[in-house]
Amino acid sequence: MDVMKKNAEVIGRLRYPLAVGMPAYIQQPDGVLRTSSIVSVDERTGTHVRFETKNTNPDRGVGGKSNYRGNCSPRLIHDLIDQFGIQDISDYMCGSGTTEDVARQRGITSHCYDLNRGFDLLTMDIPERNNFIFWHPPYGDMVVYAGSQYSAKEVKEKYGIDPIKSDLSHMKDWGQFGTLPGRGAAISLAGLQSHEH
Ligand SMILES: C[S@@+](CC[C@H](N)C(=O)[O-])C[C@H]1O[C@@H](n2cnc3c(N)ncnc32)[C@H](O)[C@@H]1O
Repeated sequence: MDVMKKNAEVIGRLRYPLAVGMPAYIQQPDGVLRTSSIVSVDERTGTHVRFETKNTNPDRGVGGKSNYRGNCSPRLIHDLIDQFGIQDISDYMCGSGTTEDVARQRGITSHCYDLNRGFDLLTMDIPERNNFIFWHPPYGDMVVYAGSQYSAKEVKEKYGIDPIKSDLSHMKDWGQFGTLPGRGAAISLAGLQSHEH
């Protein structure tokens, strides 16, 4: 156990048995919380389990919105910028805007879009040439975005597109991904993410 890491207590039912190297999936009243990969399982009782995960950031960092389900920690974007010396970053599923906020903090250029801002990665052209793309697609239907994390009606009124039709989190199954008039990469990347567990 790394004593420098802060602890986070989560109440919910484990959807699958815990396995080192895999994420934990914890059923919450409003969806499923997925952790990063488990490093060790340290203690089990009849009702509690204590385990350590790889990339736990209980204080999260500043940027994006922690209440936008499935958001990522701004610290992850900072790490990527440091690791790869990024000066220009693009994110086509930027959700609550974490990538954009961190890019602003770091004084680098960003190109950030999302269906919730009227940009559909499946059917619209990417407007710029990219230097570095950070891509964080939905977790299958585990967290539903259009109509749940944001108002689909407002997006329709503002941008004239119905986000529910191309929101990857609204796809019924992987077969439906396959029939989308979209980019093969989106399909295989989302598939990879789903098969990780
Ligand atoms: C896991 S979230 C990204 C979270 C983000 N990294 C953050 O920190 O807030 C996935 C995002 O994909 C978006 N999305 C789903 N289908 C999309 C599509 N066809 N085109 C663009 N964005 C899409 C959803 O609206 C959602 O915001």
